[in-house]
Amino acid sequence: MAALATLAISQIRAGPFRQPATERLFNETKGTDPIFRTNDGSNCDHNIDTSSVDGRKHAYSLLTSRGLFRIALDVPAGAEYDVVSVNNPYGCTELSTVSTYRRALPTTNLKFLSTVMWDGRESTGPSTQKITFATNPVDLLADLAHQAVDATNGQAQGTTPLTTLQQQIVDFETHLFTAQSIAREVGALDSHGATGGPAALSKQDFFVGISDPLGGNPHGTAFTPAIFNLFEVWTKSRGHDDDDQDNKGGRASIVRGEALFNSKPINITGVAGLNDTLNTPLIPGNCGTCHSSPNAGNHSVSLPINIGVADLSSSLNLSYLPVVTLRNKVSGQMTQTTDPGRALITGK
Ligand code: HEC
Repeated sequence: MAALATLAISQIRAGPFRQPATERLFNETKGTDPIFRTNDGSNCDHNIDTSSVDGRKHAYSLLTSRGLFRIALDVPAGAEYDVVSVNNPYGCTELSTVSTYRRALPTTNLKFLSTVMWDGRESTGPSTQKITFATNPVDLLADLAHQAVDATNGQAQGTTPLTTLQQQIVDFETHLFTAQSIAREVGALDSHGATGGPAALSKQDFFVGISDPLGGNPHGTAFTPAIFNLFEVWTKSRGHDDDDQDNKGGRASIVRGEALFNSKPINITGVAGLNDTLNTPLIPGNCGTCHSSPNAGNHSVSLPINIGVADLSSSLNLSYLPVVTLRNKVSGQMTQTTDPGRALITGK
């Protein structure tokens, strides 16, 4: 593998109001930058007007205001459900291909992935397999290569095959690490013995199952909810340094945050993929029950769960998203959601 340097990307402090980059790009180019394409950049790809600036403003409004791309996914053949309606304010109401609206995921810290793409669609495709301890990192690298090809041919509308370039893309992206490196009133997050920031993260141990509350550690190591230990050292050094009080107070608050993450009790209820699978209506947990990878916060094994962020009852404002109604072919059970997520991959 090429010896690419690990990039340490420092946090760039934003002003009080930061215009979305996509909105700025739109204004600078009147909506003609290559990011504004109807295959995935516009709210829908038909019955839209992209001939005028006003038309384009309308057509690309979700991308410019919220950074959302349209990901259109075919309902898998043999799905356990029918899509009975799509109520989409932007058009694209087809029942066989559902338009979902999602942000681009970070292309950094990829070594910690146990799933490629938010819905796992690049981990389970015909040419790839579920990411496992036994086959990692070969499976992850194959998934990422596949993802690079799909993104080039699909989203970037490439016409020539990538061939060897896909290997270079994977080499590059798997050597990128990002993490906040500076905090206000505290300074460098790797000072005074702490190990915040991207340099330490790039050296963080990881394997699939390294920390699994469901007992999936391949060596049988017991789970501990103490997932983060980057700032533990600041607990010990408190009061024993010559820094000003502000810095000490700032560091103490980071130490308290880390402790909350590691220990605050959370009663987990109604999470599909967890409570129903384990047949346990109430699981006493912590942040690390779901965010289990040490000092990274991903889940260390593939575990699709639904915490309800796309539900109509979500406490997030989802009024700008479509409502998709699904009906189980056998039981007739109806489900409404703003994004069917993994159901569009598995058909389940
Ligand atoms: C029951 C499982 C569960 C618990 C417990 C949980 N999370 Fe999450 N968290 C998730 C899932 C699933 C997502 C992804 C949501 C999505 O996009 O669908 C998420 C997303 C996040 C994100 C956004 C990450 C990103 O890349 O955008 C943050 C930050 C986060 N959680 C922090 C926490 C913290 C802090 C706690 C404890 C106070 C916590 N979570 C507890 C399951 C959980």
